[in-house]
Amino acid sequence: MLPLLCDSVATLLSFRTGTDMRTITQVGFLTVTAAGLVFLLSLAAHSSGSPLPNGSHKDADARTLFAKNCATCHGNDGQAKTFKAKLNHARNLTDSAWQANVSDERLLNSIMNGRGHMPAWGKKLTEAEINSLAAYVRQLKK
Ligand code: HEC
Repeated sequence: MLPLLCDSVATLLSFRTGTDMRTITQVGFLTVTAAGLVFLLSLAAHSSGSPLPNGSHKDADARTLFAKNCATCHGNDGQAKTFKAKLNHARNLTDSAWQANVSDERLLNSIMNGRGHMPAWGKKLTEAEINSLAAYVRQLKK
């Protein structure tokens, strides 16, 4: 990658002094190759950069769902530190003591039917979405 870039810079420099059609083609080729490599590298960095341990598509979906529907009250990190969280007394979903005591059934039930100031999601989200959100909430545990 780096040698290639250096190469194209060197070619560019020599292009200034001795101009011929071959150099122009070479510069063009090298620039395209370098751009392609940068693109591939950024793709690789993106796919391996998932913060979740098992970054499957399901997790990504749950993360999006959470950001869209739940983060206003629970915060993106689940810690419920937002202004709205305080207003609603939303739960800190990362609290390990609470996580240890709450059953999967109750998590699902609370998300489906609501609890306290927490709205019910049973009519807005599918069962599969609620399931993956419950699994996502489990992952938020500190
Ligand atoms: C309008 C604010 C609000 C939104 C939006 C919201 N919640 Fe809550 N959530 C709360 C509040 C308030 C509580 C605390 C309820 C209680 O224990 O009285 C809570 C509690 C919870 C609990 C703990 C329930 C229990 O049984 O202790 C879970 C799990 C939860 N929310 C998940 C979610 C998920 C998942 C979403 C998105 C689909 C979501 N919340 C969206 C306000 C919200």
